[in-house]
Formats: sequence, C-alpha cells, structure tokens
Amino acid sequence: MHFMTTLTNIFIVFIVALMSLVAAAPLAVRDVYVPPITYPHDGTVWTIGSVHNVTWDNSNPPQQITNPNGVIMLRKGDRTTDIVLASDFKVVTGRVTVKVPNVQPGSNYSLVLFGDSGNFSPQFTIKE
Ligand SMILES: *[C@@H]1O[C@H](CO)[C@@H](O)[C@H](O)[C@H]1NC(C)=O
Ligand SMILES: *[C@@H]1O[C@H](CO)[C@@H](O)[C@H](O)[C@H]1NC(C)=O
Repeated sequence: MHFMTTLTNIFIVFIVALMSLVAAAPLAVRDVYVPPITYPHDGTVWTIGSVHNVTWDNSNPPQQITNPNGVIMLRKGDRTTDIVLASDFKVVTGRVTVKVPNVQPGSNYSLVLFGDSGNFSPQFTIKE
C-alpha cells in the first residue's frame, strides 16, 4: 500500500512537471522576437551615400520583448562586418533610416537586425 502511494506520488510529480514544461514552451517561443526584414529585399540596389528606410514586419510583437533596442549591422557573404548602420532604435517601430556606407561595391551584402535575436535580410547590391 505504501509502495503504491509512493508510485502514485512520483507519477503525479512527473505529470505536473510535464504540464509546466508544455505551458512554458509557447511563452519561451513568443519571447524571442524575430521580425522578418522586408526592405532591403532580393533585388534591392543601394548607392553609396544614399539614405533608405530599412523596414521589418512588426505586426506581431510579443507581450514582452527581452531586448527592445535594435542594432542593424552590415553583412557581406556569410560574415557580419563591424559596420553598424543604426543602433538604439526601438525594434517595435518597424523601420529605421540608414545611410549606405562607403564600402566595396558588391552583390552579396545583407543586413542583420539584432534585437531579441539575429535576423538576416536577403542579399542585395551596393554600388558606387
Ligand atoms: C522613412 O520613413 C519616414 C516615415 O515614413 C519618412 O518620413 C522618410 O521620408 C523616409 N525616408 C526615406 C529615405 O525614405
Ligand atoms: C561574398 O562575400 C565574401 C566575404 O564574406 C567574399 O569573399 C566573396 O568574394 C563575395 N562573393 C561575391 C560573389 O561577391
């Protein structure tokens, strides 16, 4: 009888632990905000020195964003450069104005938006 009770207790503890795991999972997913960058996109051509609004889809912000401040950095190929195009803006606004830096022209540039997480744009072109 005592044995059965212990087994039942262990079973209940197990079920409760499982239920809290299941309940916590969607929260954790919601908390990591990965808004897709909508501009620049595939086919975009930027001229050095020109000014553009980088935009991203902010239609589904979570209740709580761990890091609401964004940083946009330039990537070339599969490497993130140390060029910061914008920083200290609110990720929830969905856009930030950037000036195209004086870099080597090329067709494999992309942007990365850091807020809650890193999020890459498609590759685009920077020309002189
Ligand atoms: C960026 O967006 C703002 C707000 O819509 C607008 O006032 C501004 O002219 C835009 N800048 C460019 C370079 O498109
Ligand atoms: C893409 O970027 C990398 C740097 O990460 C460079 O070495 C490579 O030559 C580039 N490729 C093209 C097609 O521009």
